[in-house]
Amino acid sequence: MHVARLRLRNFRNYRRLDVEFGPGFHLLIGGNAQGKTNLLEAVYLLAALRSFRGAPAAQLVRHGAGGFLVGAEVVSARRDSARLYWSPAERRLTLNEEPVQRLVDYYGVLRAVVFCSEDIELIKGPGARRRRFMDLLCAQANPGFLVLRRRYAEAIKSRNALLRAPSPDRRALEGFTLQAARYGREIMQFRAELVPRISQAVRSAYCAFAPEAEQAELIYRPAAREDLTEAFRRNWERDLRLRTTTAGPHRDELLILLEGRPAADYASEGQKRSLAIALRMAQAEYLAEVHGAPPVLLLDDVVGELDARRRAGLLPLLERVRRARGQVFMTCAQEPPLPPASVRPRRWEVRAGTLRALPEGCAPGS
Ligand SMILES: Nc1ncnc2c1ncn2[C@@H]1O[C@H](COP(=O)(O)OP(=O)(O)OP(=O)(O)O)[C@@H](O)[C@H]1O
Ligand SMILES: [Mg+2]
Repeated sequence: MHVARLRLRNFRNYRRLDVEFGPGFHLLIGGNAQGKTNLLEAVYLLAALRSFRGAPAAQLVRHGAGGFLVGAEVVSARRDSARLYWSPAERRLTLNEEPVQRLVDYYGVLRAVVFCSEDIELIKGPGARRRRFMDLLCAQANPGFLVLRRRYAEAIKSRNALLRAPSPDRRALEGFTLQAARYGREIMQFRAELVPRISQAVRSAYCAFAPEAEQAELIYRPAAREDLTEAFRRNWERDLRLRTTTAGPHRDELLILLEGRPAADYASEGQKRSLAIALRMAQAEYLAEVHGAPPVLLLDDVVGELDARRRAGLLPLLERVRRARGQVFMTCAQEPPLPPASVRPRRWEVRAGTLRALPEGCAPGS
């Protein structure tokens, strides 16, 4: 899978960009604040329909413009043309010139995995980050998961609203409890199947970084140990007292362990950083396995932070993506920090919202 053509209009600091990319490895080289991350953000936006920086759509509109457009031609087993236009008054998502009616039909046209420095929050941030990580993978493997998660969230929201009412309507409460149990059980099943597979992939990815074969491991720890209906019943009185739903997948944890201990508490900064990258590598490996083709990899700055040995740990993944005719975009401030013999990058200079292909051997800025 690769992005063969990218078109930006009034997106962040890009007024107008039309560029063609082949499969393979692309290095985006440029100083600070030139538009490197913005370009990755645009690609990811078409894949996930949200900014990986968590920015609301209004922030993506170039200052002074009325709306933005991001369009791409994506080559996989098919060739698709995806376009997203956004302005405060209008949102338009089209696939092959047709308006997209159901988002589940759209997800999967472009799959992308972002590596960025905020990924360290996967290790040290709150549990919500790790739940989002699990759910992102479930959804990227099976877009129907998003519907499930939305229904569960709605059931829990309604249930909590009732729990906060002065005298909760018992029948309505039971209705939402049944719904929450039904969708929640399926979510837990997805997560329980996902985590052991990801754990395996994280373990091998982390080995490439770890000096003394330290063992990384992921364990799914559901908040409800028994059947979910049973858990809701058992917590009934407590939920009424605390006026919120205390068990269920919205409280699940994903434990990330290094040598059997929680990485958040014991791992060094370098170990956490490496683990975060291993999680993203595992995500990419998992998606490649599920879909038979690797996702587009977007590496924002992370490689520059690694020492040479750890950088080399990334090579097998990049090499695999290259062989499968996948695509990698990697940003860096200066000359390539990664000069792999086999993975020959195409180099681009990013400057003030423009992109210029650098001829081989030509230094940026010359
Ligand atoms: N909506 C917007 N309209 C115009 N410019 C914007 C908008 N949002 C961000 N920018 C600007 O785009 C420029 C490039 O941002 P970007 O995050 O892509 O930088 P970068 O090349 O990744 O730099 P760094 O190496 O510092 O990460 C910045 O100057 C930023 O202020
Ligand atoms: Mg950046």
